[in-house]
Amino acid sequence: MKPPHILLIVGGGIAAYKACELIRLIRKAGMTVRCVLTDGGAQFITPMTLAALSENEVFTTLWDLKNETEMGHIQLSREADLIVVCPATADLLAKMAAGISDSLATTVLLATDTPVLAVPAMNVRMWQHAATQRNVAQLRGDGVTVVDPDDGAMACGEYGPGRLPEPVAIMGEIEATLALPSRMHPGQTLPLSGKRVLITAGPTHEPIDPVRFIANRSSGRQGFAIAEAAAAMGADVQLIAGPVHLSTPPGVKRTDVETAREMAAAVDAALPADIAIMVAAVADWRTADAADQKIKKTGGALPVLHLAENPDILAGLARDARRPALLVGFAAETENVIDHARAKLARKGCDWIVANDVSGDVMGGTENAVHIVTAQGVESWSNLPKDQVARRLMEKIADAVR
Ligand code: CTP
Repeated sequence: MKPPHILLIVGGGIAAYKACELIRLIRKAGMTVRCVLTDGGAQFITPMTLAALSENEVFTTLWDLKNETEMGHIQLSREADLIVVCPATADLLAKMAAGISDSLATTVLLATDTPVLAVPAMNVRMWQHAATQRNVAQLRGDGVTVVDPDDGAMACGEYGPGRLPEPVAIMGEIEATLALPSRMHPGQTLPLSGKRVLITAGPTHEPIDPVRFIANRSSGRQGFAIAEAAAAMGADVQLIAGPVHLSTPPGVKRTDVETAREMAAAVDAALPADIAIMVAAVADWRTADAADQKIKKTGGALPVLHLAENPDILAGLARDARRPALLVGFAAETENVIDHARAKLARKGCDWIVANDVSGDVMGGTENAVHIVTAQGVESWSNLPKDQVARRLMEKIADAVR
């Protein structure tokens, strides 16, 4: 099969230099790349740099008679599997959203039905401006994948969201976008079509009385991202969610629960499944005797909470006669991550443990560095946005159950 071909449009921002590293990574991944450099981009890097790194001619203008006869602007996008705009400046995003075609880059972007991945980079105020946010929302509605910029110190001396993500992370987005179902050819089946996937996500709340509960910091983001990735790969996804503030991903069937015991019952009702991924941060204990009425201060004597152990849903599933063929657990650890994950794999009787160090702000945060622990060994991934962790994990799962 022909390797994927990328058309890289380099816009005019200081982050343009990072496009050079991106070209290197695209080629290292076995893909080919051709570049379009905007006038603004050419203020920061030269066509020569891009030509040398891509080993391909670089295109800069619409008004080039030779190029228009040999390789027209329509052909540039037609030969590409994916168009990547990096860095996507506020100006480029605005023109894309408005359908303006006043340069080679914007004309290529208007005259194409090839998937587009835009990687914005700009000053924090420009990014946060209502106009830019409106344009990004418009583009997303039009089907363009717009990556969220990184947060941090900027070249202009300010701080906040607007930095170009690191080239390795952009490369992850490119690979994920190329793997999306929209890239599949008609007649080709999706990698998880016909598979039933059961996922738990979020925390559980264990009532103390009608107004108080025991909980943890889980946001449910990682589990929801996994549900979304599984559905996008064609799976029939049953998501059992604890109390979270997240919308249901497209195509996912969701059951909301509050307590660990309700989650265990919902998992039982959702069986059988081919694959189960237990991402929920289930409360280990509940109060043995939750009060029917609000517990009142009694002037000195402190209330005592008696705890009872909750059912272990994952371990129960591993022993069940309807055990899914692939059973994946998560492990939230604050120390000795891999040793604890190995012990958990054996204790729970699952096939894989996805272990993460939650000593920082992983719980409730947007990024995650995970280790996949199996009987065969440990595979460690670098820190990635949770949706990328989800897509990679689902690709690995699809390979394993193929
Ligand atoms: N899990 C579960 N039911 C429970 C507790 C945990 O299904 N009552 C699942 C989680 O969804 C996760 C895995 O077990 O997939 C490990 O969860 P974790 O909280 O890391 O482990 P614990 O069993 O709670 O062990 P410990 O508290 O000792 O770390």
